[in-house]
Amino acid sequence: MNIVLCGFMGCGKTTVGKKIARYSGLSFIDMDKYIEDKEKMTVSQIFAEKGEDYFRDVEHAACLSLAKKDNCVIASGGGALTFSRNQEAFAGCTIVFINTPLSVIQHRLRNDTKRPLLKSGDADKLFFKRRPQYFKAANLVVRGSLPPKRVAQNIIKKLNLENINETAELKGDM
Ligand code: S3P
Repeated sequence: MNIVLCGFMGCGKTTVGKKIARYSGLSFIDMDKYIEDKEKMTVSQIFAEKGEDYFRDVEHAACLSLAKKDNCVIASGGGALTFSRNQEAFAGCTIVFINTPLSVIQHRLRNDTKRPLLKSGDADKLFFKRRPQYFKAANLVVRGSLPPKRVAQNIIKKLNLENINETAELKGDM
């Protein structure tokens, strides 16, 4: 069983994913980090030197590989689950959309320099274009405007992950 977190850049996928993993005992995987390790380049470098189409292909390959893992919480890249080929790759997984308002995302990313797609200045347009795709991909939608700990707790509750690991309670604090 894998849980895949999706949603726009800055919606909280990585922070929330780490908390779910710590609580449940599932392993945490960050898709962008997985791609960076494979390519031995940062995401920014891949976009700058090889282009977005190349990035989308390695991202798709990452989705296919990660879908084969088990007992993982996967924080996907913000664009990944907007493509039907990646939605199909994760068909056997539980996909959770962290639905965070644009205003919250804008605030969180105000000083970000690492995300190439924020440089174009079209992030707001992209946000609204992608929303329907996240809804389509998701088996579960959660409110992302809450503090990450609350978002994680809500996902744990809704997916019945409370009892997945006997030592979870001992790990207690997320
Ligand atoms: C992207 C989001 C990024 C990263 C890449 C492209 C996107 O991931 O995969 O910069 O298309 O929205 P985060 O959502 O983790 O920032």
